[in-house]
Parts: sequence; C-alpha cells; structure tokens
Amino acid sequence: MAPLRRDESHLEGSLPLALAFPRTAEDLSALVAYANAEGAGLVPRGAGSGKAGGCLARPNDIVVDLTQWPRTLDLRPSDLCLRASANVLLHEVKSAADTHGLFYPPDPNSWDICGFGGSLATNAGGPNACKYGMTRHWVLAVEALLADGRIHTFGIPSVKANAGPNLGQLLIGSEGIFGLILGATVRLAPKPQSRLTLLLPVDDFHGLLNLPGKLCAGGYLPSAFEFWDPSVLKELRTFGPEEARRLPGQALALLEFDDRDCATDAFMDGLLDLLGPLSEHLQAATESRAREALWKVRRMTSVFLKERYPKKVSEDIVVPRSRLTEFFVALERSGIPSVTYGHLGDGNLHVNFLAAGETPSDQLEAQLMELFRMSVSFGGTLSGEHGIGLAKRSALHALSDPADLAAWRSVKQALDPSGIFNPGKVL
Ligand code: MLT
Ligand code: ZN
Repeated sequence: MAPLRRDESHLEGSLPLALAFPRTAEDLSALVAYANAEGAGLVPRGAGSGKAGGCLARPNDIVVDLTQWPRTLDLRPSDLCLRASANVLLHEVKSAADTHGLFYPPDPNSWDICGFGGSLATNAGGPNACKYGMTRHWVLAVEALLADGRIHTFGIPSVKANAGPNLGQLLIGSEGIFGLILGATVRLAPKPQSRLTLLLPVDDFHGLLNLPGKLCAGGYLPSAFEFWDPSVLKELRTFGPEEARRLPGQALALLEFDDRDCATDAFMDGLLDLLGPLSEHLQAATESRAREALWKVRRMTSVFLKERYPKKVSEDIVVPRSRLTEFFVALERSGIPSVTYGHLGDGNLHVNFLAAGETPSDQLEAQLMELFRMSVSFGGTLSGEHGIGLAKRSALHALSDPADLAAWRSVKQALDPSGIFNPGKVL
C-alpha cells in the first residue's frame, strides 16, 4: 500500500488501514457499515493524479479503489450525453465522444492518465475551461454512494431539470466529503470543425497581461489561452527537453480558437488587428500535427518541473482577467520566490514554488498565505482547479467567510453525520 501515501501534490499521507476493491452494491454497503461501526474513514482514490492531497489517508482510513467495479461507458447521441462509471479514464470518455463526432471539453493537463471519477470529484478544469467552463458545467446527473449505504442518482439526462435544488452539483467538486461518486451522465457538444492554434512570443511580459480581457471585449473567446512567464520560460529553455529549448520570446502565450470560421482570413485579420504589435513573432497552425507540436511543451510543463523539482509546490490561484496586470505587479513587489505558467485566459495561474523542498516549512506557509491573500484581495480565489484537499485546508479556513464555512459544515453533517466520507479534507 506504500504508493497510496502519495498523489501529485507535495504531501505525504499515512499508510491506510486497508485498501478496498468493491465490486457490488453490497460491497459498498458493507464498507459503509464497517466505517460506521469502527469509526474508519472511506477515502476514494482513482488514478492518484490529484494535486491537493485529496486521496491521501489517515492511519484509520480505508482507501476505496473502484478498478474492480463494473466499467460502463454508454454514449447517447440523441440525448447529446454520455454516461460513464467513475473508474473509466477521462481520455476514454473524451475519445468515445470524439468517435461519434461529439466533444467533451474538460481537459485537465493530466487528461491522458486521470480518472473520470477524480475529474468529477475535483471539478477538474484545464485549458478549455477558458471557453467551456469546468467539469461541473457538463454534468447532468451523478450516481453516488451516500451515508445510508445505498447508491442514489441525482439528475436526469437533460439540460432542463429544475425540480428543486441540485444535489448532484453539490457532489461535483466536493472531493468525496459528502459521498462516493460512482459515475455520471455528462452533456456533450458538437465537435468543433476547425481549430486555430497560435504561439505568441512577446518581448514584454506585462504587455501580454491585458490581452485576455481585450480579446473578450473584442468578441474573441479563445478555447484556450495558456502562458509562461519569463522565469519559467528560462527554466524550460535551459533545462527542458529538446522542444522546449527552441521556445521563442521573453514570455510566451499559446492561444487556441475553435470558432467555425477561425481558419478564415477574415477571422485572422480581425485577430491581428486586435493583437497589434504583439503579433510581431506570431506562429499559427490549423492542421492537427502542427497544432499538437505547439501544444507539446505546454502539456509537459508541469511534469518536467516536477521531475526537476520533486518537492515543488504548484498553486492554482485565480485572479479575474481584468486585474491580471495589477496582480503581477504586486507579486513581483512581494518578492515571493516563484515562477508562473498556466491558464491566463481565465486568470487561473500556476504559481510554482520550485525551492519549496529547501524552504523552512513556516517560511513556505507564510509565502503561500501571502499569495492566497493577494489573490483574494484582487477579487480572486485560492484554487481554480486543483481543489482544497489537505493542501489548502487551513488556508481555506483562514480566508473564508465564517458563515460560508458554517453552512458547508451543516451540509456535511446532514449528508454524512458520522463523518465517514473522506474525513479531514476540505472542511
Ligand atoms: C497544469 O495546468 O499543467 C496542471 O494544472 C498542473 C499544474 O499545476 O502544473
Ligand atoms: Zn492547470
């Protein structure tokens, strides 16, 4: 069970009491009964690719692994939706949709390895959230094990469902603290017919920061708008793989559009007008091989940095698009030792503390808190996509409205009175 002590965060959990592989509804009921009787916690674990310690256990917890649960993936093109069990991988969900000419947009950068269940439990984001929103925007119905030991379904396979509050949505992004997600029905979209990918090297990093807002105000909504700040770009160029060594610019952005007319001259002309001098070194691709080459370095940025700095801390704060320039001025002034890349288009910034392993823990905590306070002071939040888990629990408590926390605790008490579901996380 040793590998269960880690996920993709910087944290280490305890060896759990046991690892369970339920196969039937009866197995799940038995687990709930055992947890209630013995005071054990039930900790869901999928691919272990979470970034906030959400699947790490305490010594008295049972880790619940759904790999032996029946696997289902049913596409329902006429309802424009798909139902899948939590143990299917996210890339299987995405490619099932794709095979039928449909599109499931959520695309966390771990999309090729992460589980569908984990993406639901953490309300996963990714580059496409810039246009398409996060996982929760796509969920129509959720199947979950609740504290009564039974499996319930919340929601129907339709976008129109308004018969009372939506309990299924409460489970999405709840990180398993209200119940164990077993599957979901998600909405699909028609597959975009064209894509335009742009690599945008710039000499002046700050000149890039008002571009997300300018594009939106100008009627251009990219399906992705990623970026690297000068220090992370230097790191990649100096120590990264071959492709990274050739990256141009002092800072760099990667934009993608998937509008029907995005490959036309008229679209490009309008875009070039908006970009003005920023477009000087622009590279554009519409054909999939060339587009994938542009995406390659973005997809491996996190993995590369983690290999080079195994104890790094990667945050995922959010700052509203309109306040990005002010935020970076404040971050630079603060002297917080960090490098940043991520999802500039929706203000979701991966501020990375590469030296976290060598920084005394109280100093690191103080730096992290300063960063979180700064993002909140600019109207943002401390997590845009990775969630709270164990990693940001104390920061969430310090920065939230007490009334908000009290309401969440009441919901937890109502749904999980014995506190058996993923104890010690989030709340
Ligand atoms: C990413 O966007 O690459 C992921 O969210 C992981 C990270 O924090 O770097
Ligand atoms: Zn990300």
